[in-house]
Amino acid sequence: MIDRFGRDINYLRVSVTDRCNFRCQYCMPHDGVKTMSHEDLLSFEEMFLVIHQFVSIGVKKVRLTGGEPLVRKGILGFIQSLSRINALEDIALTTNGALLKPMAADLKRCGLHRVNVSLDTLKPDRFTLLTRGGNLQDVLDGISEARSVGLKVKLNCVLNKDINIGEIADFVKLSRYWMLDVRFIELMPIGENVEYAIKNFVSTQEVLRQCPELVSIDAIDPSSPARYYQLPGAVGKVGLISPLSCNFCSDCNRLRLTPDGKLKPCLHNDMEIDLRSPLRNGENIMPLILEAIEVKPEKHLLDQHKTIVRQMSQIGG
Ligand code: 5AD
Ligand code: SF4
Repeated sequence: MIDRFGRDINYLRVSVTDRCNFRCQYCMPHDGVKTMSHEDLLSFEEMFLVIHQFVSIGVKKVRLTGGEPLVRKGILGFIQSLSRINALEDIALTTNGALLKPMAADLKRCGLHRVNVSLDTLKPDRFTLLTRGGNLQDVLDGISEARSVGLKVKLNCVLNKDINIGEIADFVKLSRYWMLDVRFIELMPIGENVEYAIKNFVSTQEVLRQCPELVSIDAIDPSSPARYYQLPGAVGKVGLISPLSCNFCSDCNRLRLTPDGKLKPCLHNDMEIDLRSPLRNGENIMPLILEAIEVKPEKHLLDQHKTIVRQMSQIGG
């Protein structure tokens, strides 16, 4: 499905829960966010219906996000049901990795292709501080288990002045011998974290400044927001995702579905289209899906220093 600005909308990100077993400093307020009630959340059957409709108009890739998607009961069966949709070519998941070790083999068996693991520091104490209680070793074990069962793995590292500006080279080095992508992401002001994000913002340019030996390589997927680089002789790649310093909206191919059943045409815009009530009233949701694509804005509001009210944990990045 092509939108008004010539973008082929072929990717849907589905946040399956707003709950998380971590409470990262930049993602959630200190006391956490009020979680949605069970009735507010779409059931997996309802999500399946929405995804099925999107696939019928050309969506080929689905990514499950959260909060933390692996904490929602029934996620494995849901992935298995998605894997039976023939025209859906790619099923991916973004996770904090804490539950990945015990679940990786089942995820692979149920038809998951790829995982993105969020990892912002390689120092155990700092990791626990940042995530307000997480255990680094669980995540590292999860990553190696995912790799050994044959899932493709990318690491997502959000740059943060307070946390990891001194660890950039260590992260880049992981790509030397590991067949995985290490992607650095700029910290975005979202929900209640605006002050924190402005204070701790680091541009992805900092990665190139600290690691001048990185060589620019061609993007494999032009709609990926990452620009790719590589260390000479390395097996893995380094990606830079720069929503603030380098706007990629003109190639944006995605829509988002929130856990409470709202379609978001753009991450950095409060515009939402409710699918939950129509779904529960047995109405046809296709006109609403087409409307969401129709109203997808040309670009986000970050350039105008505007931000949105929904928390990141309620959208899934
Ligand atoms: N800016 C950039 N990335 C963020 N994430 C969460 N909050 C932010 C933010 N404000 C990332 C997580 C994870 C993904 C789901 O989104 O680290 O990689
Ligand atoms: Fe959970 Fe991810 Fe938010 Fe951290 S960034 S609290 S892991 S949703």
